[in-house]
Amino acid sequence: MATLGFIGSGSISTKIARLAVAAGIDVVLSNSRGPESLAETVADLGERARAATPREAAQAGDWVVVSIPLSAYRELPAAELAGKVVLDTINYYAMRDGRIEVLDSGRTTTGELVQEHLAGAKLVKAFSSISDFHIPALARPAGATDRTALPIAGDDPRAKEDAADLISRLGFDTVDVGPLTESWRFEPETDPYAVPYYAVPDVVTTFWAEVGEALRSGTVPQTPPPADPGVPLPAARLRTLLADTPRKLTADRVVA
Ligand SMILES: NC(=O)c1ccc[n+]([C@@H]2O[C@H](COP(=O)([O-])OP(=O)(O)OC[C@H]3O[C@@H](n4cnc5c(N)ncnc54)[C@H](OP(=O)(O)O)[C@@H]3O)[C@@H](O)[C@H]2O)c1
Repeated sequence: MATLGFIGSGSISTKIARLAVAAGIDVVLSNSRGPESLAETVADLGERARAATPREAAQAGDWVVVSIPLSAYRELPAAELAGKVVLDTINYYAMRDGRIEVLDSGRTTTGELVQEHLAGAKLVKAFSSISDFHIPALARPAGATDRTALPIAGDDPRAKEDAADLISRLGFDTVDVGPLTESWRFEPETDPYAVPYYAVPDVVTTFWAEVGEALRSGTVPQTPPPADPGVPLPAARLRTLLADTPRKLTADRVVA
């Protein structure tokens, strides 16, 4: 019996967990507030789901999704995640996470920063460049002609194969971007990031412009992006976007 662990059980994790349960995979969810706070989520996911602490979720998982704000990455349980394939969805937003100079300057990527903390784990950057509501909207069974591809990156080729197999069971093709040094190619506001999965791309670009404007005027907006039905993104198109995108450092971003 396969088990997918989760550290962080918010917007992204709960969408992935639902796909996992549908694929016959057990899920163990965890968050910062403790297992009791996840009772409703677990009940909603059904009998394949249970809640635990982050350490327990890390130990239980054959793979583990880490999906928390970057500001908390040092709290990820490195000892329990050692040796595991870790799917890392985390992005850097200075307005939420505080300024991190090595990311602002482009000296490293968010994925490398998290991998450095999880030194014994095999980190695969995944599910970090698609809006949460597009995960259920665009998941398709293997062999479907309208399957969507997601970029992955990581330093361990075998771990990337394992992650790609899992992601395929969840409903998506993958495009391997290379090692974590290359994962900037799908960090926020690069060409492959979020927008290509929108049926109406203006929805998200307008939203980002509004958020950027609010930030410049000194407020931190809390509103989520408006929902959108999604449009399948084939692997060939994703490869082109990944190859052609310029790097977007904090200073180049509309929302940072
Ligand atoms: N939402 C998206 O569309 C999207 C898309 C791509 C990537 N991402 C990235 O994925 C990550 C998660 O995003 P999200 O939207 O799912 O966030 P979210 O809905 O705010 O959920 C965050 C989760 O992390 C948990 N958490 C926070 N600190 C923790 C800690 N120290 N230990 C364990 N769990 C902790 C929270 O638990 P508590 O509530 O108990 O604190 C919550 O369950 C972020 O880095 C985000 O930038 C998000």
